[in-house]
Amino acid sequence: MRGVTDLLAEPRIRIDDRLNGSAGGDIAAEVREGLTKAPLKELPPKLFYDARGSELFDRITQLPEYYPTRCERSILNRRAPEIVEIAGAEELIELGSGSASKTRALLFAMAGAGALRRYVPVDVSAAPVERCADELSELYPGIEVHGLIGDFNRDLVHLPDGERRLFAFLGGTIGNLYPDERIEFLGALRELMGADDRLLLGTDLVKDAAVLEAAYDDGEGVTAEFNRNALRVVNRELGADFLVERFEHRAFFDERRSWIEMRLHSLDDVVVDVPGAEIEVAFEAGEEIRTEISAKFTPAGVDRELSQAGLRLEEFWTDDGGLFALSLSAPAR
Ligand code: AVJ
Repeated sequence: MRGVTDLLAEPRIRIDDRLNGSAGGDIAAEVREGLTKAPLKELPPKLFYDARGSELFDRITQLPEYYPTRCERSILNRRAPEIVEIAGAEELIELGSGSASKTRALLFAMAGAGALRRYVPVDVSAAPVERCADELSELYPGIEVHGLIGDFNRDLVHLPDGERRLFAFLGGTIGNLYPDERIEFLGALRELMGADDRLLLGTDLVKDAAVLEAAYDDGEGVTAEFNRNALRVVNRELGADFLVERFEHRAFFDERRSWIEMRLHSLDDVVVDVPGAEIEVAFEAGEEIRTEISAKFTPAGVDRELSQAGLRLEEFWTDDGGLFALSLSAPAR
């Protein structure tokens, strides 16, 4: 039996920083690799999410054109009690938690079922992990919050052990991975999961290209600023001299590969110095950098990728408009 003093003495919030306060321990290597790729230069999308980029993303989620967040929230609000019941979850591990605004429905349902033990937000951006750790431990005084600042694609091994865990990977962020990376990532997650654990996965669905493209090229230009923010982060973190305003935002739906692709289009012939990555990068006017892919799925595609990774689909829900999907899956026996 633990006494009251033990409980009070026990820290309820713990934050592990696997990135040591930078946008990623080895971003220099990743940027070097990406910017020396031919024929198409690339930058990893996690570069978007410094404090400013995370704020821009929050604004994106409120834009009229950007339906995924609204649709996913409506599914979660309707299905949270069912999800929590099926999963029997006592612990929520949220990969790419961001500001965690949608997670609240899940935590609320878990608390309602009297089963909320621990919340583990994992994100590359420190500020939102810290903020939501504070907020949630105030909201649910009994909860243990174990934040992890890290790259969901690399730092999974640092997750705390547990039972009856609900892994939530929401927002369609899995779409940022290439198809082979998705199977690898889901497989690694599957390896980590016990028989009682469940995966709640948000996936954006294939739809009319015009609707998709508008969601990634909004009228206010917020997505354009978000995209260019990757260059600001490279300037700051690696001492680069990108003239950020001389790169234009582009977004298009690649139907064959079923993904939205975001690019930055250089307006000039220019050589950019990136001292922190020990490279100089030449651009021709019109040359582009791929900064993000965001895959769009069919329901059958979600089922197929989960089973390829050793996961068995238990439930599949969409919003009323059928724009976005949530799936619940378990380790296949
Ligand atoms: C946070 C990765 C789900 O792919 O829709 C939003 C990021 N990029 N607008 C997405 C994003 C441009 C978003 N994810």
